[in-house]
Amino acid sequence: MKPFSSLLALGQCLMFIQPALSTQESLGGPFIHSSIEEAKRLVDEAYKYSREKSLERVRGQSIRPSDVLRLLKQPARDTRSAVRSADYLENTLRLIHEKVHRTHRLHKRSLNATDLLTPQELDTIARVTGCAARVSKPSCRTTPNVNKYRTATSVCNNLKSPRLGASNTPFTRWLPAQYDDGVSRPKSWDPNRSFNNFVLPLVREVSNRILATNDASVESDREFTHMVTIFGQWNDHDLTFTPSSPSIRAFSNGLDCDESCERSEPCFPIQIPLNDPRLPTGPDSCIPVFRSAPVCGTGKSAFNFGDMANRREQINALNAFLDLGQVYGSEEGLARDLRDLTNDGGLLRINKEFTDNGREFLPFTDVKGNMCATRRRITNDTNAKEVPCFVAGDVRVDENIALTSIHTMFLREHNRLAGALLRLNPHWDGETLYQEARKIMGAYTQVFVFRDYLPHIVGPDTMARQLGRYPGYNETIDPSIANVFATAAYRFAHLAIQPTLSRLDINNKENPMFPSVPLFKAFFTPWRLVFEGGIDPLIRGLVGHPAKLNTQNHMMVDALREKLFQFINHLALDLGSLNMQRGRDHGLPDYNAWRKFCGLSTPSNLGELAVVLNNTDLAFRLLQLYGTPDNIDVWMGGVAEPFVHKGRVGPLFACLIATQFQKIRQGDRLWYENPGVFTSAQRKALKNVSLAQIICDNTGITAVSRDPFLIPEGGNTPIKCNNIQQLNLSAWKESASTADQKQQENSDQDNEVSPPPPPPPPPDTPGPSSNICHQQLSAFSVQLTDNFLTHNNTIVFSQVVYNRPNHYNKNSGVFLTTSTTSGDTSFPLLS
Ligand code: HEM
Repeated sequence: MKPFSSLLALGQCLMFIQPALSTQESLGGPFIHSSIEEAKRLVDEAYKYSREKSLERVRGQSIRPSDVLRLLKQPARDTRSAVRSADYLENTLRLIHEKVHRTHRLHKRSLNATDLLTPQELDTIARVTGCAARVSKPSCRTTPNVNKYRTATSVCNNLKSPRLGASNTPFTRWLPAQYDDGVSRPKSWDPNRSFNNFVLPLVREVSNRILATNDASVESDREFTHMVTIFGQWNDHDLTFTPSSPSIRAFSNGLDCDESCERSEPCFPIQIPLNDPRLPTGPDSCIPVFRSAPVCGTGKSAFNFGDMANRREQINALNAFLDLGQVYGSEEGLARDLRDLTNDGGLLRINKEFTDNGREFLPFTDVKGNMCATRRRITNDTNAKEVPCFVAGDVRVDENIALTSIHTMFLREHNRLAGALLRLNPHWDGETLYQEARKIMGAYTQVFVFRDYLPHIVGPDTMARQLGRYPGYNETIDPSIANVFATAAYRFAHLAIQPTLSRLDINNKENPMFPSVPLFKAFFTPWRLVFEGGIDPLIRGLVGHPAKLNTQNHMMVDALREKLFQFINHLALDLGSLNMQRGRDHGLPDYNAWRKFCGLSTPSNLGELAVVLNNTDLAFRLLQLYGTPDNIDVWMGGVAEPFVHKGRVGPLFACLIATQFQKIRQGDRLWYENPGVFTSAQRKALKNVSLAQIICDNTGITAVSRDPFLIPEGGNTPIKCNNIQQLNLSAWKESASTADQKQQENSDQDNEVSPPPPPPPPPDTPGPSSNICHQQLSAFSVQLTDNFLTHNNTIVFSQVVYNRPNHYNKNSGVFLTTSTTSGDTSFPLLS
């Protein structure tokens, strides 16, 4: 409970300055508990209402673009618990505040709820709402193979601060947040409030005047393929996901965010300017936007758990490491669900209904309500067969079919690797095959991102300055993703997306049967992969066609600015406006504050801004809107800058992106180049892997350019797949005797950190015998971890010793059966 010391200290300190209540008496346990109960009821009801409303809309085919965005940003599993706890806490404090002010007839702003609470009461609230659990320090002593494999959440990557860089922790701040009220309310919440003597422009006005372009005049990149762009999105989905609260209505007054333009937590609608070329204007016309969920105890909750003032912070549901979480899942539960546990092959689950010319598709979701049932609407064929959304390690897998194709390719690569490793090491169990294949895949992404991708984005100079030779692991580096990276800098590529997703046939010509798809008809359309020729045409399109070039007069295509998530005639979203609104929602400091952070000049007038942008007209138009460079939204300013030499971002985003990746690499104890993570032979083999080889091995494509990020011409014309180097897996071959020795070492290692060895195996297995009685391999003994034992919890044993260790998964706590149809069995704890 150490992190609560600051909370307690703050509570104590607030007690001494208690100005309005004459006595120091506590508000009393029953009062606190009834407030918590009421807050929980309010939040649970709002969540239930929102869920039902969403399902109703999805089922009734009346889903709106804003519903799609909200569903896309829905927290699931542990992220949902994190968001729910924060909502419980915030509402508990709000209710206490309201009740006390009512009872004591105090002036509305005279006291914070926390002024009234004893440290014990604050502690109780934090515990009962679940907020305390979010900051408790996990023990890494019982994490299996902690030096060898990553956990799904990356908890325990840093052994001293186990939550550094882990999933469901706050985005870090490199500069303190700037909110309108200093703690939580976004700038422009009050549209008349001025900053630096100027009122902030409406984000949609900025979008209309700066970002708009005519798709036909969009320029194409002369060097880089569209694969660079979509690979960026793919890579982002390994690193950042900012959830919203599941509630679609305000907790305090029940206001429905979809029905009103009022700003009331969590509703932060985008107002539509007068004379908008597309959207209806008027006081009741706006695009609904939901604020990103706050971290427990930050923002309005009036006290915090960390070392900063209580400004609102946002949650990153993903871990900060390059580990292909978008394939495997960034939480243990999801990771387990994505695995094929019906056999011991270490495989990921695949689609049981359809194949892509004999190759695997991703499995379908079993979530109720089908956001991907878009086929009938798009094709106007009321009899067309719909398919569910695909599932993967990241929830945005279906967002567009080019992204889904990359997901599919990497799923296949995992299964290909697991199969190859099994042939090489027939003695390996399913768990080892899965973890070793996953580890190789993690190394792939590190190589592809650092060696092949980033140099094209930040340019060779920034690479040399910040991302050169691997400097070694440094446990004091915080790898967490910065808020400005997720909310501004890494969204640079929204301006590099083509209006059309190209589909090419085996001759790299427009596919006559299934031609290229306009981007706005490619959102949430997995059926296009199933019924329209699979992933090959799209992958050919990605590597065969150029990216859009972000130029200062042709910025964002209409599919994203005027037709985002539009399936029927509802208000389509505008990604440019969303990016700026999100920056304000997260309290991102302005453009100049970040320029200063990066050691760049801070333009203060038209002349200076014109120099920075190398464009007087653009500088003029920006200042017409913002008044001063100090008010420019950082995403807008960043994407307006001319590119650094041989890169595709300006100096500001080059600095922010490089700084983030520097920390991701150096703060990763399991980085592939960190000595001891791979053997030197394995490292050597990994240096030669290529995206071209992944394409060759996992699609029907038979020739590809050596560097799929570069336009296929000159020295980079497609070559036959036989001539593309394969990953040589011989360095992973392990003799059975080495394996035995290793197993012994591992169990010795576990013993070093675990309680004493278990008693001799009992004659039979514990738990409901029906689950595993079919196994002949039943004799084992177990050693318990420090699990929290409650009714229906699964006990995860840290050690299971019996005659076939591979039948117990130490990560999931799940026993595998050899013959049952269910495939796996866990032991619910019977109270
Ligand atoms: C067709 C392509 C794409 C579409 C439709 C799309 C759409 C979106 C949407 C709707 C959001 C959430 C906006 C909000 O409410 O804040 C978002 C967030 C984001 N996008 Fe994209 N995007 C695309 C491609 C890309 C690419 C190519 C990149 C980068 C290389 C990228 C990077 C990001 C990042 C970093 C975020 C924030 C993620 C988070 O933390 O939740 N996107 N995008």
